[in-house]
Amino acid sequence: MSRYVLDHHLQGEKNRLALMSQLLDPMHRRHIESLGIGRDARVLEVGCGNGSMSTWMAEHVAPDGQIVALDLDLSLVDDVHAPGVEFRQGDIVTAPVDPGHFDFVTARAVLHHVADAKAATGNLVASLRPGGAILLIEPDFLPVSVAEPIKVRTFWSGWLAWSRERGIDYHIGRTLAPRLAAYGLKEIQGTAETAIYNGGSQWADYWRETITELRGDLVQSAKLNDALIDAFLAQCADPNRWVQTIAFTAVHARAPGS
Ligand SMILES: C[S@@+](CC[C@H](N)C(=O)[O-])C[C@H]1O[C@@H](n2cnc3c(N)ncnc32)[C@H](O)[C@@H]1O
Repeated sequence: MSRYVLDHHLQGEKNRLALMSQLLDPMHRRHIESLGIGRDARVLEVGCGNGSMSTWMAEHVAPDGQIVALDLDLSLVDDVHAPGVEFRQGDIVTAPVDPGHFDFVTARAVLHHVADAKAATGNLVASLRPGGAILLIEPDFLPVSVAEPIKVRTFWSGWLAWSRERGIDYHIGRTLAPRLAAYGLKEIQGTAETAIYNGGSQWADYWRETITELRGDLVQSAKLNDALIDAFLAQCADPNRWVQTIAFTAVHARAPGS
């Protein structure tokens, strides 16, 4: 059974998921709208978190479509009775969901957390019907490699080292297209977009809350120290500091066949 490092029992996880919905749902919706989901589509979302995207997609396929929303842990789903959504507890690393069944499969901010991204990608692809479409959205922390000032860049190096040790791959975005190509998928296309935000904004709050909650573990790991964490938190609070952190990489593709 997979383990999710920022697990749902961490105090701030519900709030973090809510912030992710506010910050990332508009981009995710735009990609889905440009791909188009039929009113009778069978849709799978993996790693649904609080369920905001599945609930939104259900409105697009009602009443003839079907939405299955899978997560390791459904305890933070906002509304498990959302009309048109079937929430299922399960692990995408272990097996596909209803193999060969879905017209559209999507997962956002999930693959960078799984222990075996190859197996998870294979199972996402195996859940598609022939000709079905897949949309993956994952982070790539490329922008932090040029973060300023140097103390903050050093903070990010420590964060990435800590994450790697915990099995999180924050550079997975760049690997999505080749991962899908390896399964023989067609029409592979992608883009990456990066929020530009300042101290005190929602993204800054996301990071302040996350780092504050993980501070003990980060310091204990020796990958970061209090001075670097304080420098980072000061930047998160300063409205005059404008920064870029994550290139959210969205790649879509189609399974061969009709
Ligand atoms: C960072 S959260 C992202 C949630 C949501 N997709 C979003 O972008 O707001 C990652 C989610 O993936 C789920 N998850 C992690 N590993 C999983 C696995 N192996 N199978 C299914 N869900 C998984 C976690 O429980 C969590 O809800």
